[in-house]
Amino acid sequence: MTTIENVPAHLRGNGAPVRDELTLTGLEVTGTIPAELDGRYLRNGANPVTGTSTHPFFGDGMIHGVRLRDGRAEWYRNRYVQTPFIADPSRDILDPANVMDMTFSKANTHVIGHAGRILALEEGHFPYLLDGELGTVGPIDFGGRLTSPFTAHPKVCPVTGELLAFGYSPFPPYLTYLRVSAQGELVQVEPITVGGPTMMHDFNVTRNHIVFMDLPAVFDMEMALRGEMPIHWDDSYPARLGVMPRDGNDASVTWYDIDPCYVFHPMNAYEDGANVVLDVARLDHIWRDSMMDFPPPALHRWTIDPSSSKVSQEQVDDRPAEFPRVADAVVGLRHRYGYMMAADFAGLDQPMSVHGAILKYDRERGTRTSIELGAGRMPGEPVFAPAADAKAEDDGYLMTYVYDAATDRSDFVVFDASSMTREPIASVQLPRIPFGFHGSWVPASVAD
Ligand SMILES: [Fe+2]
Repeated sequence: MTTIENVPAHLRGNGAPVRDELTLTGLEVTGTIPAELDGRYLRNGANPVTGTSTHPFFGDGMIHGVRLRDGRAEWYRNRYVQTPFIADPSRDILDPANVMDMTFSKANTHVIGHAGRILALEEGHFPYLLDGELGTVGPIDFGGRLTSPFTAHPKVCPVTGELLAFGYSPFPPYLTYLRVSAQGELVQVEPITVGGPTMMHDFNVTRNHIVFMDLPAVFDMEMALRGEMPIHWDDSYPARLGVMPRDGNDASVTWYDIDPCYVFHPMNAYEDGANVVLDVARLDHIWRDSMMDFPPPALHRWTIDPSSSKVSQEQVDDRPAEFPRVADAVVGLRHRYGYMMAADFAGLDQPMSVHGAILKYDRERGTRTSIELGAGRMPGEPVFAPAADAKAEDDGYLMTYVYDAATDRSDFVVFDASSMTREPIASVQLPRIPFGFHGSWVPASVAD
């Protein structure tokens, strides 16, 4: 019998997976959906098809999407990404054969639009191509050019339209830089030398450079053989940032030592003269003592100064927050605004005690404002969509799903990013949507 004691903490409350794949129309809307929003808000997350998983990152990818058009929410639907783990749920994510087979993705981490494609991503395998109704087309390898993992956090350059990416692997080459053209062709594949196999969850791009984060979360094959998340903190592994021209290669990477830390997610990076500035959600460490070891992340700024070969670090805020985002239009360019999800992280297995919020940082004025959602209400990653004819960087909307523990239900909400007014512009009533990872606003002009 299942009791609360033997349900893993990450699967309690709104961490519990949902069983049914739904297609809902005639959705109830409070407020007004901006008529200019024509596209899909899509969000990925781990929803174990067996009902349980041994780690928050091991569940099966399920996309929750809302189609907006002409001021209406046409549909909500949730779909598993049809990976080999859905075809046969008895398969083991840590089986070496499944780790090595690049089509054996959990496809559970992010979902993006690029070059007419909707891609569900996980960092150890190939991307999975979806159709506009969240059906799975299958894994893609860019015409055979991709033979190694593809990150869940590629970046679309707003200037060139390129999709800049990388892959990391427990097997050599441990790091590979990947550049996809605006037309969706994989045009550059560069193995990069690093000190060992580490978990490189995300990276940074600027207008002309890539910045890799080579941090002390290292692979441990003995842990894999024990059936555990095969990564642990290693105090002996140096923490470094690697700056490389976007069309560069292994020989053109300049490495900079930094204080040990872990960063799952940068907010954004940009060039300031010869310096490179990075705003990141920084953790003091990760998985030092156990797989659940996760110190509170908070926004920090790194400034890489090539003239001194040093990186300075400034803590921007002490409020715990994660899932940083900026407007797609300023990715790799100087941003003024950034958005994060905040919560009192300690209470995630007891949803009624969570006080969720969406934060907005003004990095020019050095201020932070927030939308406080109140007791038992928890947002996800805030995704920015620009207003039509936007005049300012923050002229647009923040989208996310908000879970309400009192009703055990979720809403798709659209907030005014400029004013950060607590009352949403629009709120679409939905069934419960479990906590998840990353998502995107995919305009119909990008993929339909
Ligand atoms: Fe992530």
